[in-house]
Amino acid sequence: MTQDELKALVGRAALEHVVENGWVGVGTGSTVNHFIDALATIKHRIRGAVSSSDASTARLRAHGIEVADAAAVDVLPVYIDGADEIDGKGCMIKGGGAALTREKIVADLAQRFICIADESKLVPVLGRYPLPVEVIPMAAPQVARRFAAFGGQSALRVGVLTDNGHPILDVRGLVIADPLSMETEINQWPGVVTVGIFARHRASVCLLGTPGGVRTLTF
Ligand code: A5P
Repeated sequence: MTQDELKALVGRAALEHVVENGWVGVGTGSTVNHFIDALATIKHRIRGAVSSSDASTARLRAHGIEVADAAAVDVLPVYIDGADEIDGKGCMIKGGGAALTREKIVADLAQRFICIADESKLVPVLGRYPLPVEVIPMAAPQVARRFAAFGGQSALRVGVLTDNGHPILDVRGLVIADPLSMETEINQWPGVVTVGIFARHRASVCLLGTPGGVRTLTF
């Protein structure tokens, strides 16, 4: 199976976690696009979606799925999103699609985070994938210097601004053995809008696409 077929497989499998007559939090990316397409087949059984990006909102609306503003929702039963990497405890690197800030905001509203990913995303230790960090531009050089002290080499993502109008630093060379403490540390740095470590908002379940079928990891 191709990587895209594995993504489609878990996109469909995630329907099982959608709560009848409830709101569903929707992430961003190519795996989530498959989920959105599958969600359209049961759209009459949900109230609607809370979206994490302009791209996902457009795709949801194109399918005729109602999209509510995150600010209008107190709690979501479930949030479904992909990941760039996920470790054996459900901690993730996210933000490859530059949607990390809104993803973390919507995930924060949710009681459960269902990660959908092809098997290449499962890693023993986070950090091989460059860590995305949304920053305020004037802080970018200082944030890069702070990462250098942790062995990270930062580069601004060329030609990309987030839906919030900020640049992204991609940080290579990190070994994120303790995701929660690293997320907590980076969150203290002035000018960091969002770091793409999702440890406080780690997955409750990961549906991993493998050639043998969907493997369910529960954390
Ligand atoms: C979006 O900013 C990311 O967090 C995505 O969830 C992540 O990059 C996974 O993307 P794919 O599903 O396209 O692999």
